[in-house]
Amino acid sequence: MVPKISTLSGYIFEYQKSFANPTGFWANIADTFFWRKKYDQVLEWDFKKPEIKWFANGKLNITENIFERHMFHRGDQTAIIWEPNDPKEQFVKLTYNELFSKVKQFSNVLLKQGVQKGDRIAIYMPMVPELVIAMLACARIGAIHSIVFAGFSSQSLGDRIADAGAKILITADGGFRGTKTTPIKQISDEAMDQCQCVEKAIVLKRTGDDIPMKAGRDYWWHELMQEVNDTNEAEIMDAEDPLFILYTSGSTGKPKGLVHTTAGYMIYTAYTFRNVFQYGDGDTYFCSADIGWITGHSYLVYGPLLSGATTLMFEGIPTWPDAGRFWEIVDKYKVNQFYTAPTAIRSLMALGMEWVENKNLASLKVLGTVGEPINEEAWHWYHDHIGKNRCPIVDTWWQTETGGIMISPLAGIIPTKPSYATLPFMGIQPLIVDPEGKEMHGNSVEGNLCIKFPWPGMARTIWGDHERFRQTYFSTYPDLYFTGDGVKRDEDGYYRILGRVDDVINVSGHRMGTAEIENAINEHPLVNESAVVGFPHPIKGQGIYAFVVCTDYSTGGEEGIRHSVLMTVNKIIGPFARPDKVLIVKGLPKTRSGKIMRRILRKIAEGQMDNFGDTTTLLDPEVVSEIVEGAKKIS
Ligand code: WTA
Repeated sequence: MVPKISTLSGYIFEYQKSFANPTGFWANIADTFFWRKKYDQVLEWDFKKPEIKWFANGKLNITENIFERHMFHRGDQTAIIWEPNDPKEQFVKLTYNELFSKVKQFSNVLLKQGVQKGDRIAIYMPMVPELVIAMLACARIGAIHSIVFAGFSSQSLGDRIADAGAKILITADGGFRGTKTTPIKQISDEAMDQCQCVEKAIVLKRTGDDIPMKAGRDYWWHELMQEVNDTNEAEIMDAEDPLFILYTSGSTGKPKGLVHTTAGYMIYTAYTFRNVFQYGDGDTYFCSADIGWITGHSYLVYGPLLSGATTLMFEGIPTWPDAGRFWEIVDKYKVNQFYTAPTAIRSLMALGMEWVENKNLASLKVLGTVGEPINEEAWHWYHDHIGKNRCPIVDTWWQTETGGIMISPLAGIIPTKPSYATLPFMGIQPLIVDPEGKEMHGNSVEGNLCIKFPWPGMARTIWGDHERFRQTYFSTYPDLYFTGDGVKRDEDGYYRILGRVDDVINVSGHRMGTAEIENAINEHPLVNESAVVGFPHPIKGQGIYAFVVCTDYSTGGEEGIRHSVLMTVNKIIGPFARPDKVLIVKGLPKTRSGKIMRRILRKIAEGQMDNFGDTTTLLDPEVVSEIVEGAKKIS
């Protein structure tokens, strides 16, 4: 098992060790894992290219480190607790032995379908144990999983399948979320029609809805499982073989398929999980994230299972049957560590104390947040009413690109401060730069957050586009990884994340590129162009404000257009990307060279209707007055 730090002096000591001798430090952690062949070299790196290799020529399989490594003493322990959407439905507990058997069985299904090492498998599923089984089965045989969040539309799913060149899609008939069912198979069908690469779909029966199955392409999960046994040997992988691709949004339109590799990701997620959450044997850990996002990958599945933990997965939503659902689950399973997004805390806080007051919550030891800055009010509510003033809050800052937690308290060890992610994790060397790229030394400084030394969990490339990887993360500031986030280091040396400094917005903890939403809106036949910006939103963190230029409202007037713009975004990205406000305008504020002055639009979206600063480069100042008039009406 990876070492666990238990005191503040222990943290300081280990951090210094990781700084003075990073390779020696990570080699010690790596040696606690099960290798088929030891690596030749701990690290080779060059941030210019960029090329990062951890544990070169080491051979291993991540599932052997989840299962075989622990089997003698953990086989009968619960690996996964699954809480269904409907609390009246029977929950499921899978022991490590049972999960292992199903993973081997499903990996035999994939082998029988002709899947080979390096093949890409797309997964579009609801939050059910089979989703974990599918991803680990891919890892078992060396196939690269690409999980797409089941809230994405068919077009987004199709784009991601095509970009990864996936030959199999693992999906389900449908999914339950609150009182709704989602037509997962129908969305999958539309996506498969759109891309040519998928040869077969494996369909899990979840809702029992009557769905069409295409002969020769679609196969039922349960039927295929009956045809195979549950014995197999893991494929031996190179440390740097890709483990998965996960798409995320950037400042340009097309989503990026970030590639994480085997050994570094394994070591980093396991080590951060154990230390940040201070997970101890026998604890029950509950991460409320969807596995379709990086938090679910790293801290619902890989980190916990590599640590022999009991990890709870929840199929439903926090407000059904009522707004006490999370806390009911905490009490039902005596959850010890609970990890969620600030947006969930804010929305439950807004629904009042009646959903919390009658809950016990005494099992909780550690609370966590991730995905967006947490405001002080929400932090205190979480701390006082959920943690009852006894549970430390770990405000964990990290990204899809970083693979695991980068800046965070270690629970109960690093003193917390509301809305601060506090101090860097072992091996992480943060650096703050000013807009010119000059390092800002000392405390009480604010600037852009970069990282200057590699860590094992970092993404290695963008699938099929290494140059974009270089450009996006390693070209803004030479020899540094640029995070895209603004940060403050206070007088105590504590880090507070201020939010994105690029055209990425964070809505309810969902990361989106404004360009991606604009591209979707522009697909509307009556839209000429659009500009999307974020604005502060009390529950979602940021809301989406769309300024839409459209000259012909013949169908249904302005209201009609607004509605159909929302439907267009629904169709192209998914309901979670729907703008909160759509303002139909005659033109956008542009400079003489045609660049949209987003600064002005951001101010208007925030409710500031004058004092736009220097507007001398504006081509047509009239446009701004017209937008302001319109904005006042819808604000
Ligand atoms: C933001 C989620 C403030 C940040 C794991 C980052 C945060 C982006 C925090 C990555 C936090 C994440 N405090 N902001 N604790 N955690 N962020 O890729 O802007 O979905 O760049 O990964 O979320 O989002 P992603």
